[in-house]
Amino acid sequence: MKHIALLGAGRIGQVHARSISVTQGARLSAVFDVNLAAAEAIAQQYGCKTATIESIEADPDIDGVLICTPTDLHAQQIEQFITAGKAVFCEKPIDLDVGRVKACLDVVSTKKGQLMVGFNRRFDPHFAAVRKAISDGQIGMAELAIITSRDPAAPPADYIRRSGGIFRDMAIHDFDMALFLLDEMPVQVSATGSVLTDPEIAGLGDFDTASIWLKMASGKQAVITNSRRASYGYDQRIEVHGSKGMITAENQRPISIELATQEGFSKPALHDFFMTRYTQAYAAEIAAFISALNGSATMNPTGRDGLNALLVAEAADRSARTGKIIDIG
Ligand SMILES: NC(=O)c1ccc[n+]([C@@H]2O[C@H](COP(=O)([O-])OP(=O)(O)OC[C@H]3O[C@@H](n4cnc5c(N)ncnc54)[C@H](O)[C@@H]3O)[C@@H](O)[C@H]2O)c1
Repeated sequence: MKHIALLGAGRIGQVHARSISVTQGARLSAVFDVNLAAAEAIAQQYGCKTATIESIEADPDIDGVLICTPTDLHAQQIEQFITAGKAVFCEKPIDLDVGRVKACLDVVSTKKGQLMVGFNRRFDPHFAAVRKAISDGQIGMAELAIITSRDPAAPPADYIRRSGGIFRDMAIHDFDMALFLLDEMPVQVSATGSVLTDPEIAGLGDFDTASIWLKMASGKQAVITNSRRASYGYDQRIEVHGSKGMITAENQRPISIELATQEGFSKPALHDFFMTRYTQAYAAEIAAFISALNGSATMNPTGRDGLNALLVAEAADRSARTGKIIDIG
């Protein structure tokens, strides 16, 4: 049995607490949040204890730590718990600054630590099937990936303020997906951003609408569009065009039916947000972390994947703010 501690009992912390509870061979043993009521609620729901950072660090029975705190705490907490000999699963992004991520990954490497980064969409069965079809050569050479990712609504201002902006916070999932699907880093990034949904977002120095274009060394391309507002739910689609065909993953619905009447065709609404759309992916992601902890697999996505996606996010942010195409070395 692997004993797991959770840091941060907010939106994603609650999702992962549930995933641990459905993962064989794993048990949520401790939870810490500066908001004691949030930690208490998880402790009660899953029958674990509330703890402090120091007690988790010192507890020899804790094998792994899930870091689900705000982004600006991740790098320091990764270093702290890797140094304490715990395996770490950390939510994306590792940090907002590329230099800080590199320093953190150096610590992980020096300590020979185990680190997995939370790019949950790789574990979505539909997107994983797209990746497998590409690797199996079913569309020949993949040439162009088109990724649509729209949230139903923007997060609160306090979250946006600490998030690093739409490219590092939201589009980073799509950058990781583009790299995962095309299996290559971009050499050029071009992006444009606007504020169309809420002027408060402009006041925070962020965008709510973005289009990004990535060009890989081989010439393969990815086009990503993002919005913080989709009136019809959580819009998550992928299309990859290749030399011998095309593969798409359409939106998923909680209820998969289509009604046909005289008036036309209609389908139920989309999932409302990531907690329900990616339930299976989150469970598979945590199961993969536990497998790696048991030694039956390696930790994947890696810290390097976290750094690669952040390098693209930083370039996209720079491109949107300067209007220039950014070369990635
Ligand atoms: N992979 C995904 O799909 C996904 C989805 C949402 C968020 N995230 C990432 O997860 C992280 C958290 O996001 P969220 O939406 O859950 O935020 P949130 O604000 O809902 O939750 C963060 C929690 O951390 C707690 N916290 C703050 N400081 C702390 C500290 N020093 N020690 C312990 N707990 C502390 C807060 O009280 C809060 O309960 C962010 O880095 C975000 O980018 C990932």
